[in-house]
Amino acid sequence: QKSMYVLGLETSCDETGVAIYHSEKGLINHLLYSQIDMHSEYGGVVPELASRDHIRKLVPLIKQCMNEAGLTSRDIGGIAYTAGPGLMGALLVGAATANSLAWAWRKPAIAVHHMEGHLLAPMLENNPPSFPFLALLISGGHTMLVEVKGIGRYHLLGESLDDAAGEAFDKTAKMLGLGYPGGPKLSELAKRGTPRFKFPRPMTDRPGLDFSFSGLKTYTMNALHDTAQSDQDKADIALAFQTAVAETLSIKCKRALQQTRLDKLVVAGGVSANSVIRQSLTEMADKEQALIYFPRPEFCTDNGAMIAYAGCQRLIADQHQGSVILARARWPI
Ligand code: KG4
Ligand code: ZN
Repeated sequence: QKSMYVLGLETSCDETGVAIYHSEKGLINHLLYSQIDMHSEYGGVVPELASRDHIRKLVPLIKQCMNEAGLTSRDIGGIAYTAGPGLMGALLVGAATANSLAWAWRKPAIAVHHMEGHLLAPMLENNPPSFPFLALLISGGHTMLVEVKGIGRYHLLGESLDDAAGEAFDKTAKMLGLGYPGGPKLSELAKRGTPRFKFPRPMTDRPGLDFSFSGLKTYTMNALHDTAQSDQDKADIALAFQTAVAETLSIKCKRALQQTRLDKLVVAGGVSANSVIRQSLTEMADKEQALIYFPRPEFCTDNGAMIAYAGCQRLIADQHQGSVILARARWPI
């Protein structure tokens, strides 16, 4: 067993994340700079602005992260970075920085799949799950059910055929006149909602583990047209939308647990920060006598800690790319 510190860099979208994970001591330090305030002015992430901000923030964050931990380059055993999927310009900042440091420090650079990072984020908590387990990944770009047998042993069981769960939250929030990112704002509004509208649970009445969330936009639009669009109307629609997503996810996870006969469910990705979705999945798991695992809310959304962790596991398992700079906008898990 190798004992080492791994530096992790996350720059795939609108968060600059830096962290240091030690193979035995666990998470040592983690820092996050969020660009959300800048992008919210435009109602969504502006890729070119995201790249520029990563360039500005990444190196200072790395210095701060290492200084606070009292570590120097000699202590670092490898540099993990998100190589995709994500925004190409943003990915390149992390990939180029990681590979430059790797070259200068004569340490390996480790290309990490962003969704593998999300998938392994619950491992940073106390009482982490043991392999094998079922993973529901719900982020802004992806919705996936994955059978996880071990590090690097992932079998895709189902995914969204159109909008990702987080994307559906963001688009619905936009239609309701809420800012970016819409997920947290929509769930805040839904707290004041009354159960008045009933939205469908897409693709639950036929077999299979794929998802489809784009149709919910039409229901939101139709419901909006049928009302005076008061704050209460919008809260009621937000509640109907959130309930539909939460129940759909629960139905599909229940089906996947039964089909795979797995008894552990990991839920990760930005949407897993949603407390209603967490509760609905927890109730389903209890009924199915399955154990359920979530990352702490700050590690549900993008962060460097999950990349440092995934990179460390890859390095220990000797499963990482050699000296190639890797950045892929699209990349199957
Ligand atoms: O994992 P993440 O930070 O980035 C991607 O890899 O995409 O996920 C971001 C997504 C956004 O769509 C955001 O609206 C959603 O996660 N999100 C939420 C909540 N917090 C973040 N959706 C619903 N409820 C939340 N509390
Ligand atoms: Zn993410």
